[in-house]
Amino acid sequence: MKNDVKKWMEEDGRKFLREIDIKKGQTVLDFGCGEGHYTIPLSKVVGKNGKVYALDKDKNVLDKLEKVIKENNIKNVDLINGGLKIPLKEESLDVVLCYDVIHYEIKRQRKNIYSEIYRLLKKESLFSVYPKHYKSDYPLMELAEIDLESIVKEIEEEGFILKHKFSKTLLHDDCYNKGYILNLRRN
Ligand SMILES: C[S@@+](CC[C@H](N)C(=O)[O-])C[C@H]1O[C@@H](n2cnc3c(N)ncnc32)[C@H](O)[C@@H]1O
Repeated sequence: MKNDVKKWMEEDGRKFLREIDIKKGQTVLDFGCGEGHYTIPLSKVVGKNGKVYALDKDKNVLDKLEKVIKENNIKNVDLINGGLKIPLKEESLDVVLCYDVIHYEIKRQRKNIYSEIYRLLKKESLFSVYPKHYKSDYPLMELAEIDLESIVKEIEEEGFILKHKFSKTLLHDDCYNKGYILNLRRN
């Protein structure tokens, strides 16, 4: 395991998640979880009375994550292999994390994702987004031409209100970098 990943998984990830307002006992969806760099620290922060749903459309990354979960005897994470129609009850979640994911999708699909997340979140609860690869942050794929303000606008149009914008050092792939975290509340 690379040094940054090790440090993140052992300590910094939990500290970061608490700073962005994740709490013990919460039910959280990690949308586009990848190999679980956020899922594993989330499972520790929410604790044994909390729950983490880790969702990804890529079965390969979920298989890797499943192995880590088993090796570490983690009991409060459920994996979901899927995309848009999420098999969870409406207004059942306290938090949804969507980190380094939205650049994969065209605008219409991003809007569909926000609206599905709206359906699943309890009123007033937290939608935390880490937009990466937009116009001024290593532009790539579907966000390459889009600025941060436009990303906030498209999410707010689906029923969320931006409450905090944090500048944070956080793990991206295998390395630390600086980025903006958008904490929005569902109406
Ligand atoms: C760059 S990785 C980020 C992983 C993790 N969130 C992190 O920050 O370490 C993006 C992940 O999002 C997943 N993804 C992208 N679009 C998705 C969608 N519409 N539904 C589910 N997963 C998606 C990809 O398969 C990939 O595993």
